[in-house]
Amino acid sequence: MSHQDSLIASDIVAYLQAQENKSFLRFITCGSVDDGKSTLIGRLLYDCKLIYEDQLAAITEDSKRVGTQGDKIDLALLVDGLAAEREQGITIDVAYRFFSTDKRKFIVADTPGHEQYTRNMATGASTADLAIILIDARHGVQTQTRRHSFIASLLGIRHIVVAVNKMDLVDFSQQRFEEIKQNYLSFVKDFNFESLVFIPLSALNGDNILSPSAHTPWFTGDPLLPYLEKVDVTKAPEKTSFRLPVQWVNRPNSEFRGFSGTIASGTVKPGDELILIPSGKRSRIERIVTYDGDLPLASEGQAITLTLKDEIDISRGDILCSADNPASQTDQFAAHILWMSDDPLLPGRQYIIKSNNSSTRGVVTDLKYKININSFSHEAGKTLELNEVGVCNLSLSKPIAFDPYKDNRQTGSFILIDRQTNATVAMGMIDFSLRRAGNVVWQALDVDRAARAAAKHQRPAMLWFTGLSGSGKSTIANLVEKRLFDMGRHTYILDGDNVRHGLNKDLGFTDADRVENIRRVAETAKLMVDAGLLVMVSFISPFRNERQMARALMAEGEFIEIYVDTPLEVAEKRDVKGLYKKARAGLIKNFTGIDSAYEAPKNPELVVNTVENTAEESAQMIVNFLQENGYLEG
Ligand code: ADX
Repeated sequence: MSHQDSLIASDIVAYLQAQENKSFLRFITCGSVDDGKSTLIGRLLYDCKLIYEDQLAAITEDSKRVGTQGDKIDLALLVDGLAAEREQGITIDVAYRFFSTDKRKFIVADTPGHEQYTRNMATGASTADLAIILIDARHGVQTQTRRHSFIASLLGIRHIVVAVNKMDLVDFSQQRFEEIKQNYLSFVKDFNFESLVFIPLSALNGDNILSPSAHTPWFTGDPLLPYLEKVDVTKAPEKTSFRLPVQWVNRPNSEFRGFSGTIASGTVKPGDELILIPSGKRSRIERIVTYDGDLPLASEGQAITLTLKDEIDISRGDILCSADNPASQTDQFAAHILWMSDDPLLPGRQYIIKSNNSSTRGVVTDLKYKININSFSHEAGKTLELNEVGVCNLSLSKPIAFDPYKDNRQTGSFILIDRQTNATVAMGMIDFSLRRAGNVVWQALDVDRAARAAAKHQRPAMLWFTGLSGSGKSTIANLVEKRLFDMGRHTYILDGDNVRHGLNKDLGFTDADRVENIRRVAETAKLMVDAGLLVMVSFISPFRNERQMARALMAEGEFIEIYVDTPLEVAEKRDVKGLYKKARAGLIKNFTGIDSAYEAPKNPELVVNTVENTAEESAQMIVNFLQENGYLEG
């Protein structure tokens, strides 16, 4: 390696100690494809003599073949390591690189410049202390520059270096540099950056990288690397309170019980008092155990196991916190979310919410507004598409421990996961808790569900009919109700068309509206089951996710999913309401089966086939099912 740290040769122990004590700076570089981002990182590594000889030989060779710099070494090739990237000439994923100088250690995340890769930038940005925003001096501030700056601010990066690159192509003009600076300053005033510096440079030629360039005598600031070596990114004290999200309970034998995880923030030592969130229990640290023996002190980023003086119940996902400033807990909060999936956000749909090693179910109850990431204006919206940012309220099925993102980027962040595909669809930053949960308690009533059911001599249940429009759901449900009624049973039908005239008359047929349609009817049906009724719900309910949500509201055996299986051709041919014809003619949009999806149930309790059976036969099958399974006893 070309690195010339003479200490390595003379005193390896002193060298390692010096390395250990050097502070760390994590930074990202953002800019568009042509701003020279990879060249800049390549230049930093090259000037710091951090390039292996064989790497150097390889890129010298490559530079001649695919480089863009004639006979000179194309430093970008050093960074754009992937073959696919070289061919396309763009960076396609987040690449982390480690390097160090005598003064500091660095981890740089090189993030893609292409618009659709906002999510990759977000991934790199969420752990960075500082962002270098590259601007091509010829082109000045671009949409991309604004977007990257916004995302950096959103993800809590407080230190910015605006690298005005390619100054050689504008004759190192001070006027051009000032112009860009003023332009940039005009839009970042609300971004809460703690430090913001502008450096004119040429990554290609090395101007203002290591030492002041003779081409910019008018520039009195530090060159890039000296600045990166000295910038102070120390966090405020409230952001460094101790947090250990518990990853697992370590119990190798009955003698030992420790709580393992990586310290998210702060420092601890034996004897410190901790509070466990959510339970609120307190104890003191007995030992800090690691593979290499016990520690007298541990801090942010270290993987440790703590043993406590008292036996308290702790599970994965709980957070051990310093007693003087513990985390909060909530099951409802406001958050910024960055949508990262091709499928849009559906408010009302249940997603898995994962934070600090714990997962729970949750819904976005309310999308308050979207933020246009180019103009930063707030816009109304019902959904978020790929790469959009919104502010919303979320409601979880159980409380989680958290800190506001502005205080702690780790304990304040979460991701949303699609329950069907298991894909990560969004990342979120918690703004604040919405205090409701504590004040609204479930009112226990004297006449309970069991008493009401007993009085009616039946086992209440929800019969959920799903199928295409015109499949025969309502006809069959109607026949089932007539039979049950004749048998003296207490029933009710909630029919899609009817409910959409009242309770749900504000909803249309977009995916988002259908999700809300089903949420409301499922909650209503649940109340009716509580009242002791056999409730028939007859809604297309096209999405598996929401049917699963309805099922999850009920106890085992209380939810009977009935798939009214009628092929599209048959339903369309019947076309009882003439709607298919209109949909085919383009007069109705988002029509199920035509331009909106229907997801057939995978494991319904019953399937009725309306091609092979008459409606009467199907109804009889359902009544038989109820009889055979004890719903009509009592
Ligand atoms: S659901 O998809 O949200 O469950 P729901 O059962 O409430 O639908 O309503 C479906 C009924 O609305 C259909 O039977 C049909 O009469 C009518 N309708 C009107 N427009 C549409 C549409 N775009 N897609 C499906 N049904 C529609």
